[in-house]
Amino acid sequence: MTDSTRVPTLVLGGTGYVAGELLRLIAGHPRLRLAGILSDSKPGERVAAAFPHLAVAYPHTTYLSLDETESLIASTEDLAVLAAAPHGVSAALLDRLLIVASGAGTRLRVVDISADYRFTDAAAYQSVYKHAHGAPTRLSDFTCAIPEHLPSLTTAHVAHPGCFATAMLLALVPLVSLNLIDADVFISGITGSTGSGRSPVEGTHHPRRHSDVYSYGALGHRHAPEVMGIVQRLTGTAIRLHFVPHSGPFARGIHATTQARLLRSLSTDEIRAALSDFYKDQPFVRVLAEAPRMKDVVGSNYAHLSATTDGTSLAVMSVIDNLTKGAAGGAVQWLNRLYGWDQTLGLTAPAVGWS
Ligand SMILES: NC(=O)c1ccc[n+]([C@@H]2O[C@H](COP(=O)([O-])OP(=O)(O)OC[C@H]3O[C@@H](n4cnc5c(N)ncnc54)[C@H](OP(=O)(O)O)[C@@H]3O)[C@@H](O)[C@H]2O)c1
Repeated sequence: MTDSTRVPTLVLGGTGYVAGELLRLIAGHPRLRLAGILSDSKPGERVAAAFPHLAVAYPHTTYLSLDETESLIASTEDLAVLAAAPHGVSAALLDRLLIVASGAGTRLRVVDISADYRFTDAAAYQSVYKHAHGAPTRLSDFTCAIPEHLPSLTTAHVAHPGCFATAMLLALVPLVSLNLIDADVFISGITGSTGSGRSPVEGTHHPRRHSDVYSYGALGHRHAPEVMGIVQRLTGTAIRLHFVPHSGPFARGIHATTQARLLRSLSTDEIRAALSDFYKDQPFVRVLAEAPRMKDVVGSNYAHLSATTDGTSLAVMSVIDNLTKGAAGGAVQWLNRLYGWDQTLGLTAPAVGWS
């Protein structure tokens, strides 16, 4: 396919980890081409300087300023936008770019990976994030879900639920939709250090994190209300999510264990069969008989699940790569859907295996 027939794609999030993963996926995508990447701190500098591993794909590409990004939008007919700016920045930034697009008659299809468009109302966002939403009138233009859980979209744009949320929703949505579990759900999750983004802070510093595991934000993490809202909107059932996240001594990957009481007696085989059936048409989700291992999915857009029961309660284990399925890969999967392409386009590379 020639360059002119690929859809021009704008990336927001400059030097961030998710932006880097988006660039990696765009470089291997048969229908997308990078049209520009905005950096707040490094406009004019080489992308390869921030991401040396991507120098082979983008040897000469330089970051755009906001003005250059607006000019790109104004001069392009149809632009895909993959947004990986920080929460609290993304809503107003996207609002501004959508206003430019509308003035210029440019069609934008946006997938936002930040938390800014995950809630349906601004007050709920403010109560969790402790600042006012940057563009409350745009909230109704976005739907928040993972692609596996929404067969058809009614909004122009999509909000990706995020990394921990992807691992949790993969377990929760089938269990709740099939009415298998009680409303109180307990999830323990462990994430790699790239989940905290590029700027180093004390809690993610290598000497502290290496060879150690510790919880943070136990029962008070901001992703819990987001996940409860998504489950309720998708299934019509309210759950109470009790979530304890942990930091793990590795760079990429998430392992989540979901536990709840069963509403009726089911065997392990029956639970696994129910999950397999729920995801039978979903190429990125595999339900295994054995405990899923993170290394089997890291570097890929695949998710592995397994389940077990003692007769009264169940445990579902899910593993994903936080940067791929939990962010950039899930976003490209949505973009494939927004353009009416096969959702797997550019995303079927297997896991690295030894990361
Ligand atoms: N890391 C994950 O596993 C993960 C998973 C799911 C969702 N997310 C979400 O995805 C987004 C990006 O995460 P990340 O881990 O890549 O974070 P990150 O490494 O901290 O990168 C965010 C980048 O945003 C850019 N930025 C900062 N201020 C900006 C502004 N005012 N306007 C435009 N760009 C600005 C910065 O790059 P420049 O200085 O070059 O502009 C920064 O490097 C966040 O909203 C995060 O919550 C992350």
